[in-house]
Amino acid sequence: MTTKAAVATVQDYLFSQVSEIDSVLDRWVPHASVEPASIHRAMRYSLFAGGKRIRPILAIAAARSVSDSPDGIEHAACTLELIHTYSLIHDDLPALDNDDLRRGRPTCHKVFGDAMAILAGDSLLTLAFEVLSRLPLVDAERKIRLVEELARASGTVGGMIGGQVNDIEGEKRTPTAHLLDSIHKAKTGALLRASVRMGAIYAGASEEELAALSEYGEHVGLAFQIVDDVLDVEASSESLGKTAGKDEAQQKITFPAVYGLERSRVMAEEERLAAHTALRMFDDRADRLRQIADFIVQRKA
Ligand code: IPE
Ligand code: IPE
Ligand code: MG
Ligand code: MG
Ligand code: MG
Repeated sequence: MTTKAAVATVQDYLFSQVSEIDSVLDRWVPHASVEPASIHRAMRYSLFAGGKRIRPILAIAAARSVSDSPDGIEHAACTLELIHTYSLIHDDLPALDNDDLRRGRPTCHKVFGDAMAILAGDSLLTLAFEVLSRLPLVDAERKIRLVEELARASGTVGGMIGGQVNDIEGEKRTPTAHLLDSIHKAKTGALLRASVRMGAIYAGASEEELAALSEYGEHVGLAFQIVDDVLDVEASSESLGKTAGKDEAQQKITFPAVYGLERSRVMAEEERLAAHTALRMFDDRADRLRQIADFIVQRKA
């Protein structure tokens, strides 16, 4: 577990990463004055509303665990945030979770209307692949590997959309450990795992390094959604910046619903330890990844 003295430095590190990622995102997303301005305003409204940027942070840290200077990794990393923000905008739509609050602000569709929110999500998704195709310092073969990682992790078979389908259809079903596993590994786990893998691929990881980092990514991915579910029960809407208590109200299949709160906390801790174990072949260049695993489990929002 991270010591108290190290926490400040981890927080400083995360803070500086967020501002670096935000400045790269700002360069790729058309300015709010570019026509048609309404869509660019909607995209920017949700993107720059204060997300944790954990996926790009993971990609950059994974790349740095493999190579000392993975130049340009921040461009590839920000594509994960474009996909993630699109998934949040659509997750909040009335037809999905019907949420009013996201990242401490009214949701995209509340401000811009359903049509523009759907299109803003579509645009962020499309832009992610444009950015990958235009990565300045990467050869075509590596670009294709990155495109494949991002597309599969966002897709229907074991990817984010597949998980969202199981999540929505699960509202009418009895919560079971099996259903829970299929939902969480896909809806959140796949993109977090891909974040780590994309960083590793970008930096030219060996097969052995990639396998170890994928395992790390699976464990932090699962830990992340367990904690998301626990916080939905325990935290306030104010601290989360999104509506608390929604999962129970919508009869979602969550870790607390299947295992109870206490066991869920233990399981998140087990995933954190397993994430550390997966990094055993790495030296201190993977310390940021170790700290991020701790942060994911200890976070309060
Ligand atoms: C929330 O993701 C949705 C899930 C996939 C659990 P985050 O907790 O990463 O949300 P932001 O990006 O910080 O707003
Ligand atoms: C959303 O999961 C996962 C996505 C693919 C966006 P949740 O529905 O649990 O996310 P929150 O709690 O609304 O952020
Ligand atoms: Mg949802
Ligand atoms: Mg939701
Ligand atoms: Mg949630």
